[in-house]
Amino acid sequence: MQEEGLEKREILELLDKKLEKDFSYDSGSILGSMCTEPLDLAKEIYLKYISKNLGDPGLFLGTAELEEELVLEIGDLFGNNNIIGAFTTGGSEANLIAMRIARNLRPDIKKPEIVVPASAHLSFDKAADFLNLKLRKAKLLENYQVDLDHFESLINKNTCAIVGVAGTTSLGLVDPIEKIGKLIEGKDIFFHIDAAFGGFVLPFLKRLGYKVPSWDFSVNTVDSITADPHKMGLGVIPSGGYFIKDASILQRTGFEIPYLAGGSFKHFHIVGTRPGGPIIAFWVILKYLGINGFKEIVKKCMENTEYLVQRISEIQGVKIATNPVLNIVGITTENGDSVCELEQALRKNLWMLGKFNDLNLIRIVVMPHVKRQHLSRFADDLEKIVKKLKL
Ligand SMILES: Cc1ncc(COP(=O)(O)O)c(C=O)c1O
Repeated sequence: MQEEGLEKREILELLDKKLEKDFSYDSGSILGSMCTEPLDLAKEIYLKYISKNLGDPGLFLGTAELEEELVLEIGDLFGNNNIIGAFTTGGSEANLIAMRIARNLRPDIKKPEIVVPASAHLSFDKAADFLNLKLRKAKLLENYQVDLDHFESLINKNTCAIVGVAGTTSLGLVDPIEKIGKLIEGKDIFFHIDAAFGGFVLPFLKRLGYKVPSWDFSVNTVDSITADPHKMGLGVIPSGGYFIKDASILQRTGFEIPYLAGGSFKHFHIVGTRPGGPIIAFWVILKYLGINGFKEIVKKCMENTEYLVQRISEIQGVKIATNPVLNIVGITTENGDSVCELEQALRKNLWMLGKFNDLNLIRIVVMPHVKRQHLSRFADDLEKIVKKLKL
């Protein structure tokens, strides 16, 4: 650190240089991210309220009430308007909170276990590690859906939680939530849904007339849901969300924080100091877009997804892994060859994609910043590279 502070102009020049290497969402290169450019209004509101701290809600009563209001509105969207919730740093924190609650609700289990589909996000591996849980993964069938028989065989007297995914990280698939729920009917096992990505797509897809399987609180065995504003909610980073049906669980498993300036309160967050800005920004997004605004955004993403699927179907040597349910497309090779070389070649051409080695596929997330012209250029490039690699 230098002795004297620099002029703002100098600092901005330095920053421009240092951040030159970053990709921007509007460049068209970012095809494999679940985050996107937040709405301009959300950015403006976030900046305005950047100092709000929900780690001390007694000092920010208005913000805390607004958070509660937002949770109820989201509950409405997720099939139960009588829920409680907690905005988090993202889906990983929300999933970790869910697994902690599930474990603590079953103190009688000495060696607790959780059962997740093999397609579940890595945050469950992290949660198992943090919380000392045994993680059991149910394998996938050839069509990438979870093998329900295998799932059922992994449930035993040590199971404290099972997980279903509504919008898998790799392919955007929705697990058969109702059928998974049936496996634990009458058992004291917590059922968590990871809709970090799908949470702010599926309710609008349904309203657009797409066939959407039941995945939310309308399935009565579902106890809690993860859904992230900073993915398809167009919120600012960081903003994840954890929503839970039974409010009494907060009293039973929450942490009491006694020393705060605003007075003590109970919560189940991992963090203490917690930004209010992203939550206020998301409240504004819901007010600004309304159901119809979200429907419009989701519709465009799905139309672009369908365009990409069509373009890929015209390229010999590659194919889509499975028909997309959400705005996520998996591409694999027709002859079963590894996608590694292909992904590397595409990356050299500045296409930033996701790669899933276990499923041998490249993932494109057709986020709102991904435009038709980007996909068209990508498909042209893909065709050339596939020819060159003789796939
Ligand atoms: C289904 C799912 N759950 C959880 C997460 C983790 O979210 P975050 O990166 O916000 O922690 C992701 C991220 O891609 C995801 O796809």
